[in-house]
Amino acid sequence: MSLLVAPSILSADFSRLGEEVRRAEKAKADWIHVDVMDGHFVPNLTIGAPVVKSLRGTTDLPLDVHLMIEDPDRYLSDFANAGADYITVHQEACTHLQRTLSHIRSLGKKAGVALNPATSEETLHYVLKDIDLVLVMSVNPGFGGQKFINEILPKIKRMRALLDQAGNTEARISVDGGITLDTAKLVAENGACVVVAGNSVYGAPDINKAIADLQATPRPAFNQSADKLKQTIS
Ligand code: DX5
Ligand code: ZN
Repeated sequence: MSLLVAPSILSADFSRLGEEVRRAEKAKADWIHVDVMDGHFVPNLTIGAPVVKSLRGTTDLPLDVHLMIEDPDRYLSDFANAGADYITVHQEACTHLQRTLSHIRSLGKKAGVALNPATSEETLHYVLKDIDLVLVMSVNPGFGGQKFINEILPKIKRMRALLDQAGNTEARISVDGGITLDTAKLVAENGACVVVAGNSVYGAPDINKAIADLQATPRPAFNQSADKLKQTIS
């Protein structure tokens, strides 16, 4: 099974976002990653639910919405109604994380949790069964084009072990930030099955090759527990 690739539209040309999404779809991307920033949780501002709704009309690919916002509960139904497939909140932004994850699932969406580089996988110990996706951040969120932080690699492996021990073998681990062919290989070796890639996809001279090369990253046999979902959602 290949690595799933979710191009991040943060690195796309915002003046023609629909075309940029279709360009990634034509290049056989697996998901589209949408970075939502509020200027509080992270020091940058991007887009909201109306843009997700517009993008929903341009692609059939799963929309992987990464909420880098404080108090995300206020906006969950907006993003669900806009057509998000995965809704990922930050562990650091949720006081009542279990409630938030249940809320996302009750809206009929896949529930994701993102962990900043300094946040331990152990913080998810009591919500392991409430998770469909863990987004391990390999940069401090807020900007594209940052350098991959190597220290997060053991976190991926430990996170995979915790999910499997809890019987949640279907939950996926995605890694976001500074993904290149080299770092994709490292995260796959440690148990990731999805990579988010901004600059290395939208900044590449040939988007088809950039996506195909990332997808061709070898994944060790142990790291395939979530693959059976591939047919159903992607
Ligand atoms: C960072 C965002 C990422 C970003 C990745 O805050 O969450 O999704 O777009 O961009 P690259 O791949 O360029 O590091
Ligand atoms: Zn992101």
